[in-house]
Amino acid sequence: MEKATVLSVENLSVGFTVRNRELKAIRNVSLEIKEQETLAIVGESGSGKSVLTKTFTGMLEQNGKITNGTIKYHDKILSDLKKDKEWEGIRGREIATIFQDPMTSLNPIKTIGSQISEVIIKHQGKSAKEAKEMAIDLMKRTGIPNAENRYNEYPFQYSGGMRQRIVIAIALACRPKILICDEPTTALDVTIQAQILDLIRELQKEYQFTTIFITHDLGVVAAIADKVAVMYSGQIIETGTVEDIFYNARHPYTWALLSSLPQLSQKGTELYSVPGTPPSLYKDIEGDAFAPRNPFAMEVDFKKEPPMFQVSESHFAKTWLMDPRAPQVEKPQAIQNLHEKLVALQEEIAPEDYDAQDLAEDGGVTVG
Ligand SMILES: Nc1ncnc2c1ncn2[C@@H]1O[C@H](COP(=O)(O)OP(=O)(O)OP(=O)(O)O)[C@@H](O)[C@H]1O
Ligand SMILES: [Mg+2]
Repeated sequence: MEKATVLSVENLSVGFTVRNRELKAIRNVSLEIKEQETLAIVGESGSGKSVLTKTFTGMLEQNGKITNGTIKYHDKILSDLKKDKEWEGIRGREIATIFQDPMTSLNPIKTIGSQISEVIIKHQGKSAKEAKEMAIDLMKRTGIPNAENRYNEYPFQYSGGMRQRIVIAIALACRPKILICDEPTTALDVTIQAQILDLIRELQKEYQFTTIFITHDLGVVAAIADKVAVMYSGQIIETGTVEDIFYNARHPYTWALLSSLPQLSQKGTELYSVPGTPPSLYKDIEGDAFAPRNPFAMEVDFKKEPPMFQVSESHFAKTWLMDPRAPQVEKPQAIQNLHEKLVALQEEIAPEDYDAQDLAEDGGVTVG
C-alpha cells in the first residue's frame, strides 16, 4: 500500500535579514515525506539543512522569515502559523526536534526525572505519580541502566550519550508523529553514536514516527535512512532512495560528497574533500550554484538554473547533465562499485557489533 504523505513542502524560500541585506538561506525547495519513513538530509555546512527543518516547527530566528511557498502537515498549513501560540499544538507535540548538544535541551538545575515527568504531565495530562512511572519506563526504553535511581540525578551526572538518550525520552514523552534529529550524534564518539542510531531505529519501530535525520555523515545515512535529500546552497539538488543516491547518483555534487566517504580513503592518503567554497547567499545565484566547483560544468551551468530532472520514479536530480543534449559523463572512479564498499560499511555500524559492555561504560557517572 502506498504510504500517506505527512509533510509536504512546496516552493519554499527562506530569507534572513542581516544588517539590511537579505541572505537567501532556502531557495525554492519542494519535498514530500511519507509516514514512518526516515529521510536523511545531507550537505555541507551552511547548505540550509537546519534552517529548512526549523521552518517545520516555527523555530526560525527573529530575523528570518518564509518569503515564499507552503509547508503542509497533513491538512494543516504550517507556513501560515505566526505566533508561538499558534504553534503550540504542533511544536513538540506533533513534530519534535532533538539537537546535537543535549545540554541545550536540558535544564542543568532540575533532576532528569522531573524534566521528563513535567512533559508527561503537561502533554498527556497524567498525575505526578503516573508521570513518574511513565518517565522511568521511558528511561528504561531509551537504555538508561538503573533508571529508578538515576531518576533523581542531574544532567551533569550523566555522560554525553546518556544525556542524548534523555533528550530522546523527553521528545518521545509527547508522542510526536515526526522526530527531527539535527546531527544528534555528531558530538558523540563513534561507539556511542552507533548506539544512539540503533536506539532511534528501535524506537521508530515501536512508536512509528517519521524521522528526519540531518547529518554530515554518509555512513549514518546508509545505516538509518530510506530516502535521502542532498542540499547545496539552499536547494535540494538530488533526492532518492538510499540505493538511488549511493549507487546511481547523477549530480556532480553528490558524486563529490560520496567521494569524500572516509571508507574510500586509502591509508596514508588524505581524505577527499570537495574543492572550493559555496557561493555567497547574499547575491542572486545565476545558473547552477555548484557550477564554479563542478569539474563537469558546461556553459549552460553558468547561465541557467537546471530544473529537477526525473531519473526514475523515486529519483530526481537538478543538474544539466540529465538533459538529453548533455554529453555522457562517467561518475568518478572512486565511487564506482560502491555497493561492495557500502555493504562493508553497513556491517561496521550494525547493531550486533557492540555489546552490553559499551552500554555499561556509557552509563557511568561522568563526574567525581
Ligand atoms: N539567524 C540567522 N541569521 C542569518 N543567517 C542565518 C541565520 N541562521 C542561518 N543562517 C544562514 O543560513 C544558511 C543556512 O544555515 P543552516 O544553519 O541551515 O546550515 P546547515 O546546513 O544546517 O549547516 P551545518 O551543517 O553547519 O549545521 C547559512 O548561510 C547560515 O549562515
Ligand atoms: Mg545545521
